[in-house]
Amino acid sequence: MQISSYIEKLIEKAQKLNKTIVLPEGEDERVLQAAHEASVRKIAKMIILGNVDEIKAYFDKQGWNLDGIELLDPAKSAKLGEYAKLLYELRKDKGMTEEEAAKTVLIPNYFGTIMIKAGDADGMVSGANHSTADTVRPALQIIKSAHKDRVVSALFIMVSQNGEIYYLSDCAININPTAKELVDIALSTAESAVQFGDEPNVAMLSYSTYGSGKGEGADKVREATAMAKEAVKAPEYVAMKVKLDGELQVDAALDAVVAKKKAPASDVAGHANVLIFPNIEAGNIGYKLLQRLGGAEMYGPLLQGLNAPINDLSRGCFAEDIVGVIAITVLQTQK
Ligand SMILES: CC(C)(COP(=O)(O)OP(=O)(O)OC[C@H]1O[C@@H](n2cnc3c(N)ncnc32)[C@H](O)[C@@H]1OP(=O)(O)O)[C@@H](O)C(=O)NCCC(=O)NCCS
Repeated sequence: MQISSYIEKLIEKAQKLNKTIVLPEGEDERVLQAAHEASVRKIAKMIILGNVDEIKAYFDKQGWNLDGIELLDPAKSAKLGEYAKLLYELRKDKGMTEEEAAKTVLIPNYFGTIMIKAGDADGMVSGANHSTADTVRPALQIIKSAHKDRVVSALFIMVSQNGEIYYLSDCAININPTAKELVDIALSTAESAVQFGDEPNVAMLSYSTYGSGKGEGADKVREATAMAKEAVKAPEYVAMKVKLDGELQVDAALDAVVAKKKAPASDVAGHANVLIFPNIEAGNIGYKLLQRLGGAEMYGPLLQGLNAPINDLSRGCFAEDIVGVIAITVLQTQK
């Protein structure tokens, strides 16, 4: 299996954390291959949901053992009743009946998510066979945002061609964030940078630098920057050494020569490593341009701001991509 050097470094860190990750898509060979690789490399203890006999037969055929892997058929689980009750308790105020909870808990993405809620797993990786919405919805409904009134958002980690690491958000969840939601996204992304071992220099991106361009979009980012600058004065962000500035054009954020001209007094411009996009269009198009034309490695979308990590895979993913996301998910369990 071909694993990038960036992911190899994350695997080394993940091995020390001794976490349990649930994979709800045991019917998919790529998931089984990834679970095997992740257990052999001791990235995490794996729980695979699905038909236990079929999964065992697949492992036998490959000549692999199941050390470090637990197989679980949700319908036959001894904890099914307990999990259904927990789901009902969590969702009854939203109109879920006991009958609906008993049915819903059997959906593998819900079963895996409830396992995390019950403390039987630390994180989940799904989406090789499910849409983003089907993976993300149980997470939002059950695991919920780690901070009251803060939106969950989607992060991409980018490794540039010369090996520099950047954190980009929100590229996949919040379609048109308000100024307050941009602050949420900026704070979550700064926290993610710290989880992955970097000091966050956060640029609130726009088509305008310090008022050079007019319009509602720039006004929104300017308003968000003012609020976010206040927010990062809180002791936890001071301890994380978060620096934040805006509104900045992306050239001023990244290029020291341009930064000297457009934002000479900024402590972020010229060396930003956390890039906050004004909306999903800028974020989604931006990351794909970097990937397709800029030759950057991209890891994501990774959900950030949840009480426990749940990550979505692309349906076109390879087994090695799943191994990478498992390692990332383990690191996201760190508070
Ligand atoms: C993520 C997404 C699928 C959720 O949509 P949905 O399933 O319709 O969700 P709902 O609006 O019904 O909300 C479900 C729950 O999640 C919560 N929620 C939704 N978005 C949230 C967010 N960004 N942060 C935190 N909670 C959120 C809601 O409050 C709700 O909670 P509740 O049921 O306890 O009240 C939706 O935001 C989406 O489609 N985003 C764009 C995804 C996309 O197309 N990406 C393209 C690139 S991959």
